Amino acid sequence: MAVTETIDNTGHPTDASLQIAADGRLRHLLTLRDLDRQIITGLFDQAETFLGEPGQPGTRRGTLRGKTVANLFFEPSTRTRASFELAAKRLGADVLNLDVNKSSQQKGESVLDMVCNLQAMQVDVFVLRTAETGVPALVARHVAGHVSVLSAGESHVSHPTQGLLDAFTIRRRLGRIAGLTIAIVGDVAHSRVARSAAEVLLNMDAAEVRLVSPESLAPEPGTVPPGARILHDIEEGLRGADVVMALRIQKERIANPDGIPGTAQYFADYGVTCERMKLAAKNAIVMHPGPLNRGVEIESRLVDGPQSAIVEQVRNGVAVRMAVLSAVCRSSS
Ligand code: CP
Repeated sequence: MAVTETIDNTGHPTDASLQIAADGRLRHLLTLRDLDRQIITGLFDQAETFLGEPGQPGTRRGTLRGKTVANLFFEPSTRTRASFELAAKRLGADVLNLDVNKSSQQKGESVLDMVCNLQAMQVDVFVLRTAETGVPALVARHVAGHVSVLSAGESHVSHPTQGLLDAFTIRRRLGRIAGLTIAIVGDVAHSRVARSAAEVLLNMDAAEVRLVSPESLAPEPGTVPPGARILHDIEEGLRGADVVMALRIQKERIANPDGIPGTAQYFADYGVTCERMKLAAKNAIVMHPGPLNRGVEIESRLVDGPQSAIVEQVRNGVAVRMAVLSAVCRSSS
């Protein structure tokens, strides 16, 4: 493994072909852009077999016995990190959760050197969350042939397992994705969740994906999937939508908050509320990737109400990540 290459943080999209092995199977998961629909439906069908009932022990399999999964999170996480850890353990893997803030990265070691050393300790799968664009693809280009890299969130550009679990949750709750209208409301400019969700939902023939935000939080042209519609009027955005997904304002990515509305103003202008949900389709569901801020981007009553699929998203996330881990480990064995 070369250790001197610098990270490509120019924001260029990851080459989607990098994640597919020569035999057509999933080797890494870095982006949902151009991911083959058969692979996606295969993951969903596999995830169905991993779902458990609330209150029952989590489904266990031995698919990853003898494998080691390392979680390297360079940004905070609750759901994704816990979910990957539980998914790997329920498949029988050894799991390493490296505290990167106490790692030798603090002494100047590069991510590639860190990965190179962990690979020497027989890590088979790296789960990476990074604030910088390009790091998961860079690592994927340098690991050994039997090793896989899974993005757990790359800057503002990609969060593929979140996109998969969102699409999977819609499929389970509404029975289909094709033909649905999905409104994603909030800080689209800084949202990897919005980009990955739009990519997979359009790929699965959603009728329309609306990206709804104030102008100050709208994405740059060309940074969202072709076919997604950018809107600024929340009422227009929610009208007739089958799915409404609220996003938080990602303050950690906003260097200059001038022009960003305060929380009360934001809730008044762009909050997803019970009243505004009356504009959506009759059986519309409400989603949020978390972490959520009640009373800022979403009304608290809606989070806990019958339209909410938010807890299901989290539950489904473990099953979807089990499916992804099974797929890449099958491809490497
Ligand atoms: N949805 C999501 O990525 O949540 P975490 O940041 O808690 O992992």
